[in-house]
Amino acid sequence: MTTITNVTNINNAQQDYHLNDDSTSNTIDGSELLAMPALIDPHVHFRVPGMEHKEDWITGSNAAFKGGYAMVFDMPNTKPATNTYDRLLDKQSIINSQLSSATYPLKYKLFFGADKNSFGEIYKLQDEKVRQGIAGIKVFMGSSTGDLLLDDDSSLHAVYALAKAFNLIVALHAEDEEIISANQKLYSNETDFKYHSIIRSKDAALKAIELVIKLSRIYNVTSYVLHISTLDEIELIKSAKLDGVKIFAETCPHYLFLDDSRYGELKGLAKINPPIREKINQEHLWQAIKDGVIDTIASDHAPHTLDEKNTPLCKCPSGVPGIETTLPLLLTAHYTNNNISLDKIVACTHTNVKKIFNLPDNNYLTFANVKKYKILKNEHLATKVKWSPYVNMNLTGFPEYMYVEDKIFHL
Ligand code: DOR
Ligand code: ZN
Repeated sequence: MTTITNVTNINNAQQDYHLNDDSTSNTIDGSELLAMPALIDPHVHFRVPGMEHKEDWITGSNAAFKGGYAMVFDMPNTKPATNTYDRLLDKQSIINSQLSSATYPLKYKLFFGADKNSFGEIYKLQDEKVRQGIAGIKVFMGSSTGDLLLDDDSSLHAVYALAKAFNLIVALHAEDEEIISANQKLYSNETDFKYHSIIRSKDAALKAIELVIKLSRIYNVTSYVLHISTLDEIELIKSAKLDGVKIFAETCPHYLFLDDSRYGELKGLAKINPPIREKINQEHLWQAIKDGVIDTIASDHAPHTLDEKNTPLCKCPSGVPGIETTLPLLLTAHYTNNNISLDKIVACTHTNVKKIFNLPDNNYLTFANVKKYKILKNEHLATKVKWSPYVNMNLTGFPEYMYVEDKIFHL
């Protein structure tokens, strides 16, 4: 039994935690620690198979636990994409084999990628055991990393009809491909990274979300809209929710902590799809979290190497690593500006994810140090790519212990 004494719980009360692990009566001073349910990240890109030079499940599980996460949902834009039944099983077996030699017992589910040639594959997801391993169907309405794309109305209708028939959630990268490609032509000679936010405009996100709301309404299917970044999207989703549409919204730390004034300094390190926006959107995002219009905060951990990111706008891949910094960023925002309450942090990183994706309860815990502050450096990171857009920020709330499956892990 391990006892962690004098821990602060999320109700701000002091408490001792008596953990049923296999140690012989161990006591830890927890007076600097905050205890919370272990986080669940509904949106990561761990790059297996095909891009293991960016991340794999050994480094990914290290990064996840160090970030306070006991479970992740991995995206299908791998090489090859996870868009057939056989590829899904192959991916699960590679992941299981990697996790069998990992330090931490990370739990996971996979999103199944929808594309025009793989509708037949969705029919194969009826086996209960296979379905248990799937978080839902992922649709890229605008192209991003990898070759998954579903940008025509009839294919989108087909996916929603299948999702209805098989009771699956549809997770959407909601950016309109037509608008993006027209802008790409218009600005093809531009080299300043700020054009990334102009090319992947707010209109592109808005148009796609309008269609998502329409589809959710027609088919009465749950849509999970990934990475919301603007006020306009918030307003559409808010009114759809009030209308009874089954729609849930996610945002990510890069929209809460970065903005388009940072391109000059960060260049390709700030290139993300959807792009970072004007700073004013951050206030609206915090408010939407408070109001419950935004349900979840995911890391969208999307590692690319520094060499890949230090390339010109036209070549630079989109995405930033984030699974190790999401909780410290949120806890720092709570303790320094009170932008978010502790209850909301737990709701957006645990309780709401569990509800939306119908996950069973567990007793997993994260103990984060909320007394010490640390200037973040690349060398602190466990992700294979070893960089973060948040380096040199002074952050608190780094996890020190995780309690998962009756074991305590000192991180
Ligand atoms: O910035 C992004 N990176 N957006 C995506 O949609 C995909 C992700 C990746 O996989 O790199
Ligand atoms: Zn993503």
